[in-house]
Amino acid sequence: MSTARRVPTAILISGRGSNMVALIEAARAVEFPAEIVLVAANLPDAGGLQRAAAAGIATASVDHRPFGKDREAFERALDAELQAHGIELVALAGFMRVLTPWFVTRWQGRLINIHPSLLPDFRGTHTHARALAAGVTEHGCTVHFVVPELDAGPTILQAKVPVLPGDDEASLSARVLEQEHRIYPQALALVASGATRLEDGVAIGR
Ligand code: GRF
Repeated sequence: MSTARRVPTAILISGRGSNMVALIEAARAVEFPAEIVLVAANLPDAGGLQRAAAAGIATASVDHRPFGKDREAFERALDAELQAHGIELVALAGFMRVLTPWFVTRWQGRLINIHPSLLPDFRGTHTHARALAAGVTEHGCTVHFVVPELDAGPTILQAKVPVLPGDDEASLSARVLEQEHRIYPQALALVASGATRLEDGVAIGR
């Protein structure tokens, strides 16, 4: 049995949380270098909250709506939850709020995200529809460190899938999602163990 310290980690979600489940399952292994201690959502009815609670993980909901346009005030409330749980590493998994430089700088090097495209291609939303419209033959997903510029942080891991004749958004997103569930736990382990880290804006150890 491993006695290595596991890094207390939070997952932030807005929706169903299938990547969250993949991370929780991977982190059940005692030798996994991160321990998932909190799942937090910005929407109280995010389906993933129930799935996290069923897995025995503490949950928090910090509704962004009462904060209106004051994104930083929302983030301060979220940050307070993270501090209260002793969180040292944050994994965004379908978290649909753009984070301000205040939050991103505070968590720099300890904040990672999964994006459903081969970054730097197709930053932003509706990536599968845009990939199909562009006629690309390869698509995929990227786990990256979060920096203030949206979907622009250094890559930790990437996985490619083919775009097949007859693909629609549903078939393509399902093929990509399967890879997301494979690489996100791997990327979290790389960062939690220190094998991959952010130094001077570059991912070291990839
Ligand atoms: C995933 O496609 C992820 O890449 C994107 O949002 C989606 C979240 O799905 N950021 P799930 O909630 O993890 O199932």
